[in-house]
Amino acid sequence: MLKFIIFVAAVAVCYGQTVDVRYTLHNKNGIVSMPGSGAIPNQFEEDAQSTIFLIHGYPGNTVTNFFQLVRNAILEHSNQNVNVIEVDWTRAAGDSYTQASNNMQSVANNLGVFMQQLYTEITNPTRTTTTTKTSTSTTETSTTETSTTETGTQPVKSGLTFHLVGFDLGAHVAGIVGRKLNRGVVRVARITGLNPGRLRSQLSMQRLTANSASYVEVIHTDTLGVLANGIGDRMGDVDFYANGGNNQPGCYSHSCCHDRAFELFAASMINPLLSGRGCNSMSQMNLNLCRGSSLRLGGIELSKDGNGIYRINTSRRFPFY
Ligand SMILES: *[C@@H]1O[C@H](CO)[C@@H](O)[C@H](O)[C@H]1NC(C)=O
Repeated sequence: MLKFIIFVAAVAVCYGQTVDVRYTLHNKNGIVSMPGSGAIPNQFEEDAQSTIFLIHGYPGNTVTNFFQLVRNAILEHSNQNVNVIEVDWTRAAGDSYTQASNNMQSVANNLGVFMQQLYTEITNPTRTTTTTKTSTSTTETSTTETSTTETGTQPVKSGLTFHLVGFDLGAHVAGIVGRKLNRGVVRVARITGLNPGRLRSQLSMQRLTANSASYVEVIHTDTLGVLANGIGDRMGDVDFYANGGNNQPGCYSHSCCHDRAFELFAASMINPLLSGRGCNSMSQMNLNLCRGSSLRLGGIELSKDGNGIYRINTSRRFPFY
């Protein structure tokens, strides 16, 4: 009997059902926590330009201001109507880096199911008849929903266009979710990987890759030396190397350089001048000789024209002009 219980528990862990992941929605309507069941709070903006998921890394949400800084920058300065959903897996991330890395798959499974439920719930044609919305918009909504349900390829609502923003191990969680979902109806339009965290070789299959979403942008800020938090390899459609990808101006520690990744992303909502130049090679990037076309770093547009390696030089302080 005990063996059976252990077996069931192991299966449940494998499917990510026991991992503690919490979802909090922030948008112009306020803040509300979302149950994992896929029930949609009234505050959710179905017609938002996109729904952006913020995914923290090790050791959780409590030690950095990643959520707060990025969420506020997006909601206050991006001039776009978006849903920001914070994915809090602190309980599964906090024990040790190894434990946190081992939990990435379960967290990704949990998030993938959450996104599918959100999609299913909102595209459910019977749903509009039971909502409390005004009757005029209900009529419009059900017409659109019917037509798209038939084609089944594109999200009905722009709020179902998903952008995953992952910091540290959260970048790989985003990658795992993206690759898993992109085989189905619910797809990830963009992933922003903020100094993706180092992985042991046996977990390297879980690394963020360019095929994890339609558009994958990576910002590298702490990649040099055995104690660096991030990975210097190219991983996205576009890889930005801030000040060469290490030794950030004004920083005297790896953790400062690591956090610079999300600080730059937050600053990109405020500072449209943050842009890099295309590089022909990594050595050109390292030598600071990039003369290619310029590309704006960060932002929340769902696709960009650039491709390849970019170098960006920044100043030492927010917003890093
Ligand atoms: C970065 O700054 C250096 C020194 O000012 C300059 O030579 C280089 O072209 C800059 N690189 C980019 C990508 O702007």
